[in-house]
Amino acid sequence: MSEPREHLRRTASYEADPDEVGRVLLLYSGGLDTSVMLKWIQDEYDAEVVALTVNLGQPGEDYDVVRGKAIDLGALECHVIDAREEFAEQYVLPAIKANALYGGGYPLFTALGRPLIAKLAVEHARAAGCDTIAHGCTGKGNDQVRIEGTIAALAPELKIIAPVRNWQMGREEEIAYAREHGIPVKGGTEAPPYSIDDNLWGRSSEGGPIEDLDEAPRDDVFDLVTRPEDAPDEPQMLKVGFEAGRPVSLDDERLDLVALLERAGEIGARHGLGIVDHIEDRIVGLKVRDLYEVPAAAIILCAHRELEKLVGTIHQNNFKRHLDDHWAYLVYAGLWYEPLLADLDALMDSVNEQVTGEITLKLYKGNVAAVRRASPNALYDKALAGFSESGGLFSQQASPGFIELWTLQSRMAYGIRQRGKEGS
Ligand code: ARG
Repeated sequence: MSEPREHLRRTASYEADPDEVGRVLLLYSGGLDTSVMLKWIQDEYDAEVVALTVNLGQPGEDYDVVRGKAIDLGALECHVIDAREEFAEQYVLPAIKANALYGGGYPLFTALGRPLIAKLAVEHARAAGCDTIAHGCTGKGNDQVRIEGTIAALAPELKIIAPVRNWQMGREEEIAYAREHGIPVKGGTEAPPYSIDDNLWGRSSEGGPIEDLDEAPRDDVFDLVTRPEDAPDEPQMLKVGFEAGRPVSLDDERLDLVALLERAGEIGARHGLGIVDHIEDRIVGLKVRDLYEVPAAAIILCAHRELEKLVGTIHQNNFKRHLDDHWAYLVYAGLWYEPLLADLDALMDSVNEQVTGEITLKLYKGNVAAVRRASPNALYDKALAGFSESGGLFSQQASPGFIELWTLQSRMAYGIRQRGKEGS
């Protein structure tokens, strides 16, 4: 306990001093980093470890295997929590109502998952008598901000450690450490080429060859979505039903939200939807290239936007776009508990009260487009919109008077500027 532990020194007030660490709640994925961490924390801090694994709908995960691995590596306990419903209801649904896309392309599945994972970590740390929470984020990414910001907001009494940020092991040393301590390493000594994160709202790959901006994405990146050129030659029509902004049915079959999002993901993946090659501005200043596979979001966000446009006024539609962008930015930036986000949610909910109806999408080889629209709240009247003469709400005779007044200031300003040019 007495050797100098320079590399464990703290910077922020919420970071743990090595001597304060007695029992650690580790956010455990079962991957290499958090497995090495499970062992390393016991050795380095002489501490007990309780593991927590959160199921947010990452496809193909075997949680019995993950739990067994944690126990083998010395965890006191390993809790596996199925948080898919809470994730869908409390995190993805507000994102749908906000048409949330960061940087025009990223539907925020990771950014939405982190505050929930951190909240569950706080609850389980308290229940298990832990003084410290450990996570596997690096010092370069956004996830450390989201997780630590949430924990520090919810539980000022808990301390945090982020071993990957401090342990000064490279990939090779980590693998050597794993072998030395009997930690199973998948795929030999070759480091896995990509850093993957996924849940029911999407999947991301970063790192390795993706960092070469002049290289097109390699086929081995994509694990979820069929390549558009290999997608079925027959288009599929898919009807998405909404009630007050909430997706409730696919092709008239009512589904709970988790089942609906998972089904939409499967259908979208089959048709090659939602591949996004994205240059992103991280919170911490770096730019990064991400390859996203977001088939469920490609379907649901497209349908929601279409329906919202149909029921919103011109003023709501123009204004909400800006708020949608800001909502996405706050969530991306790790500020889930920022009060402005709740303020924005109130407006999102209010607008979405009218977002009820059905949008039929055509899915075909990587493309998704609305082809049929129906809503009891549509601000659309076929008789008014068309060429047929209609009395009542709209008179074509009134249009020239409108045009004269509507364009008045612009015409005056144009005239003044023209005069200025002629005079010079
Ligand atoms: N760039 C995305 C974000 O910041 C995805 C991050 C994925 N995380 C990961 N650990 N690979 O939300």
